[in-house]
Amino acid sequence: MIIQYTAPLRGELSIPGDKSVSHRSIMFGALANGTTEVTNFLTGADCLSTIACFRQMGIDITLEEGTRSGHVLVHGKGLHGLHAPSDILDTGNSGTTMRLLSGILAGQSFDTTITGDASIQKRPMKRIMTPLLAMGADISSVKNNGCAPLQIRGRKLRGTHYDSPVASAQVKSCILLAGLYADGITSVTEPAISRNHSELMLRYFGADIQTGLTVSIAPEPVLTGQKIRVPGDISSAAYFIAAALLVPGSELLLKNVGINPTRDGMLRVCQAMGADITLLNEDHSGAEPCADLLVRSSHLKAVEIGGDLIPTLIDELPVLAVLAAFADGTTVIRDAAELRVKESDRIAVMTENLTRIGCPVEATPDGMIITGGQPLHGATIDPYKDHRIAMSFAVAALACTGEMEILDADCVKISYPGFYEDMAALCK
Ligand code: S3P
Repeated sequence: MIIQYTAPLRGELSIPGDKSVSHRSIMFGALANGTTEVTNFLTGADCLSTIACFRQMGIDITLEEGTRSGHVLVHGKGLHGLHAPSDILDTGNSGTTMRLLSGILAGQSFDTTITGDASIQKRPMKRIMTPLLAMGADISSVKNNGCAPLQIRGRKLRGTHYDSPVASAQVKSCILLAGLYADGITSVTEPAISRNHSELMLRYFGADIQTGLTVSIAPEPVLTGQKIRVPGDISSAAYFIAAALLVPGSELLLKNVGINPTRDGMLRVCQAMGADITLLNEDHSGAEPCADLLVRSSHLKAVEIGGDLIPTLIDELPVLAVLAAFADGTTVIRDAAELRVKESDRIAVMTENLTRIGCPVEATPDGMIITGGQPLHGATIDPYKDHRIAMSFAVAALACTGEMEILDADCVKISYPGFYEDMAALCK
């Protein structure tokens, strides 16, 4: 993919459905009694992996793919309605599928093996194995390296409390889902609050769940199928927010964006950088708050990003690093060591590619120090097949001189299949 600046971004865009919420709508719908109807479902490859896994376990799921979103019917069979898959479960590139599904599988009355692509097989799974083992689960890493493939022998679990060393919604959600199959209350305390979509949606389906820094769930709830309209994904909106901020003369209205406070750190950081972003039409999409965002190009200044803010913008840090590259001053990102264990090592890959476009940047063990405001130029970008890196440099291309070439550009289909088309349509 070759991208070069053509014109300011102007107009309106409906942001595709939230990836985290889309995954959970399938999983919880499958464990509920009756039909769950999902609209604005994200048809990215990750969410299709979740559908495929549940179909393999006997759940009837119909998906009508529209041009921008999917309409899904999940015919749930209740907490104990899954059956043993005939083959290994394949989560593709999706960490959310791998980690949340492992929690569900640990409490089944059958055994499974679960794996994913080359990236997934390098990502840490001890973080879910440790709490699941404490709950009495039988889970092991087939290659004994703390990574997938995982072998899970289903059994009745023990309710337990877990103090998580990481603020991770995937770890928290895995434990809560295992807690559905435990003999008592299961609780998790996080060092900082991570996205709370599981808590909000499980409660919406009828689970007895307490939320906050410590989250707890009672076992064996009766979950009932629901109607879910997935809000637009703020992590996808982030690329268009950034593009509109960077390209002079831009004005974009991003419609129906999820603004859950456990996800909205990008907005807060952009505003601290001097961004002109206005929230309009604030509303709710089921349990999730959403709004339209009016974004106008702005002169940005450097900021420091760290602490409890990090989990609320973890997936937006690559594109925030691009904003920092064009902002006046030196931006410091810290407390973000989690970036090293995402779809790629995002600290290493961002540093490599920012350097290629001429930005002075230093990688640290838990972040980056980025000196912004120099003129930057197009280059050949290797996103290491990481969707968020590819989209971040597509945004950078609009503010660089010359052409940007993005290798393996179609990796964006993991979370945003129509990304380049949407960008081209707004730059006319
Ligand atoms: C996700 C949680 C985040 C995020 C990922 C999706 C989820 O991971 O990076 O893209 O849907 O729960 P961690 O919570 O493990 O940081």
